[in-house]
Amino acid sequence: MSRKFFVGGNWKMNGDKKSLGDLIQTMNGAKVDPNVEVVCGAPSIYLDFVRSKLDAKFGVAAQNCYKVPKGAFTGEISPAMIKDCGINWVILGHSERRHVFGESDELIGQKTAHALENGLGVIACIGEKLDEREGGITEKVVFAQTKVIADNVKDWSKVVLAYEPVWAIGTGKTASPQQAQEVHDKLRAWLKTNVSEDVANSVRIIYGGSVTGGTCKELASQKDVDGFLVGGASLKPEFIEIINAKA
Ligand code: PGA
Repeated sequence: MSRKFFVGGNWKMNGDKKSLGDLIQTMNGAKVDPNVEVVCGAPSIYLDFVRSKLDAKFGVAAQNCYKVPKGAFTGEISPAMIKDCGINWVILGHSERRHVFGESDELIGQKTAHALENGLGVIACIGEKLDEREGGITEKVVFAQTKVIADNVKDWSKVVLAYEPVWAIGTGKTASPQQAQEVHDKLRAWLKTNVSEDVANSVRIIYGGSVTGGTCKELASQKDVDGFLVGGASLKPEFIEIINAKA
């Protein structure tokens, strides 16, 4: 089954109207592989701005959302608000949400269910920390995180699973193509056993963690690597090279 290559940019809490405007101009003018789905994760306050400037062939994602439509939740935004700004995706469960802001698996599951019910696509992030990898429990950790997400998904066509080993995020230490492939392969096998063969074959499993123009091609050539979630490099013109990793 062919899975459309998916490249997400995660701008995190970076940029301003000037620098993001420049980046958008570069992206709009670039030659990008039409066989790749591209989605840029913008800071909440710039979602509307980015959606109004970025070419319609690129998607936009919020970097987080809450689990209910509205109410007394100071500082939060809801999927309904995200949709209202013409944005169709949200990143959930990012390691910074988990480990800097203390979001639990349970909360990430509830957010996933609510975002999907409200018509957003979800880039659901999972990944082990360094001590967990060194302790030999990578599989146990990512399977447990995936289970909580899976328990909250009815329509897998709207979900992209992002495997992001925490030790590789923002560290310049990219997982080797073999390390990424090994976990992606195991995740697909888990989906086959615990969800269905169809979902295992069709869901995109993307890799994130210090992806660069230099590392993207070999990673992209791995059988079960269906794209990337890119942090630092997504703020640079290099992002175009990563989008075109398979071209
Ligand atoms: P990085 O971030 O590419 O800067 O390592 C990836 C991510 O956090 O999604």
